[in-house]
Amino acid sequence: MPIQITCHKGIENSCCDEIIYNLVSILHLFNPVITMLPFKLPFRFIKAFILLLFILFSINVFSQSPRSRMDFDKGWRFHLGDIKGAEKIDVKDADWRALDLPHDWSIEGKFAKENPATPDGGALPGGIGWYRKSFTVPATSKDKKVYIDFDGVYEKSTVWINGHELGFRPNGYISFEYDLTPYLKFGGNNIIAVKVDNSVQPNSRWYSGSGIYRNVWLVTTNKVAIDHWGTYVTTPEADDKSAIVHVQTQVKNTSETPAKVILATTIYNPSGKAALTLNSAESDVAKSNYIAQEIKINNPVLWSVEHPALYKVVTKVMVGKAVVDEYTTPFGIRYFNFDVDKGFTLNGKPMKILGVCDHHDLGSLGAAFNYRALERQLQMLKDMGCNGIRTSHNPPAPELLDLCDKMGFIVMDEAFDCWERGKVKYDYHLFFKEWHKRDLEDQILRDRNHPSVMIWSIGNEIPQQSDTSALRIAPELAGIIHNLDKTRPITTANNDPSTNNKIIASGALDLVGYNYAERDFPHFHERYPGKKFIGTETTSALETRGFYQMPSDSIQRWPTARDYKTRAKMNADHTVSAYDNISTPWGSTHEETWKVIKKYDFLSGMFIWTGWDYLGEPTPYGWPSRSSYFGIIDLAGFPKDVYYMYQSEWTDKPVLHILPHWNWEAGKTVDVWAYYNHADEVELFLNGKSLGTKKKEGDDLHVMWHVKYEPGTIKAVSRKDGKVVLTREIHTAGKPAKIQLMADRKNIKADGKDLSFITVKILDKDGNLVPNADNLVDFKINGNAFIAGVDNGNETDLDSFKASSRHAFNGLALAIVQTKQQPGAITFSASSKDLQSATVVLQAK
Ligand code: GAL
Repeated sequence: MPIQITCHKGIENSCCDEIIYNLVSILHLFNPVITMLPFKLPFRFIKAFILLLFILFSINVFSQSPRSRMDFDKGWRFHLGDIKGAEKIDVKDADWRALDLPHDWSIEGKFAKENPATPDGGALPGGIGWYRKSFTVPATSKDKKVYIDFDGVYEKSTVWINGHELGFRPNGYISFEYDLTPYLKFGGNNIIAVKVDNSVQPNSRWYSGSGIYRNVWLVTTNKVAIDHWGTYVTTPEADDKSAIVHVQTQVKNTSETPAKVILATTIYNPSGKAALTLNSAESDVAKSNYIAQEIKINNPVLWSVEHPALYKVVTKVMVGKAVVDEYTTPFGIRYFNFDVDKGFTLNGKPMKILGVCDHHDLGSLGAAFNYRALERQLQMLKDMGCNGIRTSHNPPAPELLDLCDKMGFIVMDEAFDCWERGKVKYDYHLFFKEWHKRDLEDQILRDRNHPSVMIWSIGNEIPQQSDTSALRIAPELAGIIHNLDKTRPITTANNDPSTNNKIIASGALDLVGYNYAERDFPHFHERYPGKKFIGTETTSALETRGFYQMPSDSIQRWPTARDYKTRAKMNADHTVSAYDNISTPWGSTHEETWKVIKKYDFLSGMFIWTGWDYLGEPTPYGWPSRSSYFGIIDLAGFPKDVYYMYQSEWTDKPVLHILPHWNWEAGKTVDVWAYYNHADEVELFLNGKSLGTKKKEGDDLHVMWHVKYEPGTIKAVSRKDGKVVLTREIHTAGKPAKIQLMADRKNIKADGKDLSFITVKILDKDGNLVPNADNLVDFKINGNAFIAGVDNGNETDLDSFKASSRHAFNGLALAIVQTKQQPGAITFSASSKDLQSATVVLQAK
């Protein structure tokens, strides 16, 4: 981009770039008008004039906006490895790599057993990395306050501005802000430097990623402004007739003189209309004041998982006639309860929390946060009928909560995987004593306005469950939360749910959280009379997508011993059958677990381990497996069969799903399973011949036939009252012949962040998926986009995710296309030896 302007609000070059990119696109729209003008002026001249008008207009608009929060992700320099003094202003970083955040350097590395993260941590490299960014702040901003906000840096980050150290944060999942103002050169160039130290490992039981892997923001305010995370909106009274909205606002004054402040607070209803405005009494703010306001809303639209209606509070801070700050807080009006006997109700309606646990990685994108990638993960879970997310085992990206608010998920927001006693040598236990209060407070302050958040978890499988120190720590942590939020219950995820558990014995918990032990669930009240139950973590079943092994009707626990010595009984190629009949010894299959939760009202819900496969923890195997087998959806985003069991139980969508594929050795007995709903029975046919009708009896969740294999077509028909509901058929596939490409979205935003997920299928000449195809597929891209990652869901594939080719795995592969900032057509093609190629055209707008 040839034009250089400095943003008036004192923000950085990259934000200007974004504005200019957008402007240039808008200017193209003027072409027809310019052609119609009665006089001839060069196009460039007219466009420059329009651009000038627009800039003047923007300056005027921006100068009236008292607060700005700018995306600070673009235009960083990165160096992998430590450099002494890299925080200094005059360090020559021109030859460092140029990149945009969020960034995870581990995902770019090579898998190796020797990497200190170990296969449990994903077997990718760690190390130390440095980031630097140069930016200007105009002289006109010298009376402002300028802050930098990091959503998350893994881990042990130190930040400097112009050579001055701002602080250190060891916790890789916490969001934090620094005040840059005292050290900024207004009207000049500034250097921000960040050192990230993920060299001391293992420090995690799963893949963490390394770097500034979440978004960064530059925030500019006046000296009298609402504090960081400075609003707290609750609805102490709410039902469908009326709601009291309580808004507590912390106003900060960093100027020399006290200010007389009035808050004008407006509530906007879910359709975006201003419903009510309330002015507070005048308040003298010398340094920092809380101002409380209460507003009544009649006939509120309640937030629910089916209709996640969002209100917002817009708070204007007035000093005299001037609006010195304006701050928006989305919120929802809902009420919920965990009942000892009846379980969970939302807005008075009984329901179960049908949740999953997920780690933060986004598969082949690693830990580098991407809004669309996370939205896709959540969308697939929502389509399965899932309504709950546990942020295992740490504070999530803030956008996860925004998405859960918008899409209708109930969130269990978790803080820690350990307290003072660790699980791996260098994990957070080294920092717990010094940092737990600060980290927990920051998490609650950041997250407490989200209607989706309904449970705080202060720990997962805390080793101190067995230790009297829990009697001290659990109440302390609960106290920290209660000081900031009393509207949500507190729990811990306990793998020792017995009465020996000192965390439970401490009395600090509102909900008793069970990890596993589903056979004990029905007896919960014998052990804990009068207490409330939540299945904080369940299941840990194991499956490889698209791989099937008989017999399917006996349940196995893998590995049979935790030291993996009994691995011989498992598969040499590190596969696990996808018939939902294998789980870890501490866990249970999906069906075993859901049957119990479904049966008893007081079991308020569960969070299944896990919704998606994740990097690291390759149970039941070890190296060369490098990612988990627990997911209902594989790492690439292809559902395993059990996805449809949940869909048949948890949604109203008509479901008929049959498994396995239909390519076997002649004469083999194959178990055919069907998941179905909205029907009385399913009839199975092999090559047109009926194999009989089956129906679910008792608490069955599927039906099954033992079928003597012959090639051809296996077909299932579901019927209700004798009428056909759905039909599904699978054909025996021939040799791989062609590639099929399916983009999840063909129109994407030319914003440098948006993604299209392209499923690559290997088909035979008749269009059948070849169920064991592993062809190597090469990708080519033309246009303003690049391949952000490739994958296939195979837990043992050690090829890099950052590549332009991928082997298919059980017939499927994935390529993720990311836009650059220019609009236009993107042509994505896939080719492979001996196969017919395929092309898909995307439009970036
Ligand atoms: C649990 C633990 C999870 C994960 C899971 C695997 O005990 O809380 O983090 O390790 O086991 O089954």
